Amino acid sequence: MKGTLSPPGNFAGQAGKCPKERLVIKGGHRLEGTVRTSGAKNAALPILAATLLSESTCEILNVPLLEDIRFFISLLHELGTDTSASFENRVSAVTVDASSISGYEAPHELVRLIRASILVLGPLIARIGRARVSMPGGCAIGNRPINLHLKGLELMGAEYEVSNGFVDIRTKGLGGARIYLDFPSVTCTENLLMAAVLARGTTVIENAAREPEIVDLAKMLKNMGARISGEGSDTLKIEGVRYLGGTRWSIIPDRIEAGTYIMAAGAAGGTLEITDTVPSHLDSAISKLRAAGMKIDCSGDSIFVESSGRLKSVDVITQPYPGFPTDLQAQFMVLMCLAQGLSVITENIFENRFMHVAELKRLGADIKIEGRSAIIRGVKKFTGAPVQATDLRASACLVLAGLAARGVTEITDIHHLDRGYENMEAKLAALGADIKRINA
Ligand code: UD1
Repeated sequence: MKGTLSPPGNFAGQAGKCPKERLVIKGGHRLEGTVRTSGAKNAALPILAATLLSESTCEILNVPLLEDIRFFISLLHELGTDTSASFENRVSAVTVDASSISGYEAPHELVRLIRASILVLGPLIARIGRARVSMPGGCAIGNRPINLHLKGLELMGAEYEVSNGFVDIRTKGLGGARIYLDFPSVTCTENLLMAAVLARGTTVIENAAREPEIVDLAKMLKNMGARISGEGSDTLKIEGVRYLGGTRWSIIPDRIEAGTYIMAAGAAGGTLEITDTVPSHLDSAISKLRAAGMKIDCSGDSIFVESSGRLKSVDVITQPYPGFPTDLQAQFMVLMCLAQGLSVITENIFENRFMHVAELKRLGADIKIEGRSAIIRGVKKFTGAPVQATDLRASACLVLAGLAARGVTEITDIHHLDRGYENMEAKLAALGADIKRINA
């Protein structure tokens, strides 16, 4: 695929490019073959935000071609950067020159489309001393406040005001601080890290999130000249520097996408090689899937998966990394719905991340919700039905359910899927799935 992304200011009409598009899946086909993992969305977003810290050009490689990335690039344009993107075959590059950023505002139209717009808060306050960002509201999976981001920046010397739906944050100069996070929030850790790299003095972030995407961001910042230690642990130490240079940085593979394809083989049955991964990033998920009866071997950057017959029920609790990821909870639920026995899936990160349950029930699943837990009695089969995607990972879960179901499953509102999965239907079709995007 070749092309450039939309010009500045042309973002508002892009949400759900074609709201009537839907996926039609005829289930019952085993998956066979090799699938390549794309670059990680959740690493690409903070890394694109971090280019705002640099006074030279940054070139970011292995950027996945996703709706969320398009929106974020629109935001970088809005802020006055010179940004260009090209997506050709397997090489995708975004070049950002933020040497003369002129804006400091993330408008509502964009924050509404992509919550991760909040990631410009840290870089903007560090680089130009001001940021005005539309307050992200709740979303389908929970309230998702940003109190920890604001508290951390305040401890570093910023002042903020929330009015008319915006947070306006200013500083005459950030200083180092000792910050304890009440919860190891991923984007909060990233925002504070990006603010601290240009602050005067030393910042220590305790109870920091440890996700591989944060490690990728920290390494990229170090490559630009930042002084950071402790990435991947729960304590980050940052010594502020006066200036950050450019970089050429390649994004890590998307562990959630790779995990989704492993589970696709678990749902439909099959034999897959998933390439371009970092298998250790999926340790917790792989150990649960092995316990459920899937055969999974890792060698170099490939994961080999074999699955046939019925899986066994296994309980799962979602936790911050290195625990079982909330972003794979919905997909794992599909496997448990069809497994032998009773399982309990407990969602510990978001308060409302069971929107897919009602849709899975339409296919024949037996699930009861009790508080933060889903109690699942495995059934022998799903039967295809029309279902509606409600959020990004719920969409992937419904695709997996459709692959496993007898008959035809039709999924509407698939713009959610396009936010986070690159060419999912093409990748699955190449593995033998009967899946088509219908535009009507
Ligand atoms: C990131 C990921 C998302 C993933 C999530 C958890 C990106 C772009 N998104 O989202 O895919 O599902 O991590 O792994 O990387 N919280 C507060 N106050 C705050 C911040 C967070 O109460 O200031 C709460 C949230 O409401 C939620 C929990 O902390 O209940 C975890 O959220 P967080 O880690 O912040 O998720 P995100 O960074 O938004």
